[in-house]
Amino acid sequence: MWEYMNAEYFQNLKKSPSEMRVFVPMCGNAVDMLMLYNLGFTVVGVEYCENAIDMFFNDHAIPKQKNPSAPWISSAHVPNISEDGRIVLLKGDILKCTPESLPYSQFDIIWDRAAFGSINFCDRQAYANLMLSILATDGMHLIDTFEYDQQQFGGPPTHVGRDGLLQYYGDECSITEVNRHDCLQPDHPKRDIMLRKGLTSFAYEVINVMKKL
Ligand SMILES: C[S@@+](CC[C@H](N)C(=O)[O-])C[C@H]1O[C@@H](n2cnc3c(N)ncnc32)[C@H](O)[C@@H]1O
Repeated sequence: MWEYMNAEYFQNLKKSPSEMRVFVPMCGNAVDMLMLYNLGFTVVGVEYCENAIDMFFNDHAIPKQKNPSAPWISSAHVPNISEDGRIVLLKGDILKCTPESLPYSQFDIIWDRAAFGSINFCDRQAYANLMLSILATDGMHLIDTFEYDQQQFGGPPTHVGRDGLLQYYGDECSITEVNRHDCLQPDHPKRDIMLRKGLTSFAYEVINVMKKL
């Protein structure tokens, strides 16, 4: 359903990937994490489903540390750490995360693929507050989502959109679109399935939420 991450988003970074940390909330076993790792970033994900985490490490043959220990490890999140320490996937509830329960309290990039749109509406403010608390001052919080009329189709995925994000991320942030394309154009692979759902417009969007300096 979702598009893959596009490495072009990271072309104009001020630091090299080896100096940067990416947070992937509600990561599932998204292959994006491997792409980020292969680009040289350190990747930290949080995911509720143990099976998804096991699949990620097994499918990509990434060996894990046997008995990891670190001051930030909490009983709320079971750590799964690659031997080189550059991939950390925590099994647990994203809404129970704090900057102190993560291996880093600040991240240069947050890659949200289908996470914000999966969170219950009543939890979205807490989720947005957590993201802002761990986003570095000049960090990018990229949200990979779809825009459509929720009255035509209830989801999933749920519609997020720029206006929906403004409500939760507020005036402290700038919210810009970094990628968008129409998924109902004639040769698009999602066109037929979305037309069958009754949608008259359906666009893929990646939105960047940044703190205003
Ligand atoms: C729509 S999937 C997206 C997965 C992944 N980001 C991707 O792009 O493939 C949502 C994921 O969030 C996880 N999830 C749902 N609620 C969660 C929570 N409260 N804390 C952590 N993970 C959660 C689910 O287990 C599922 O893997």
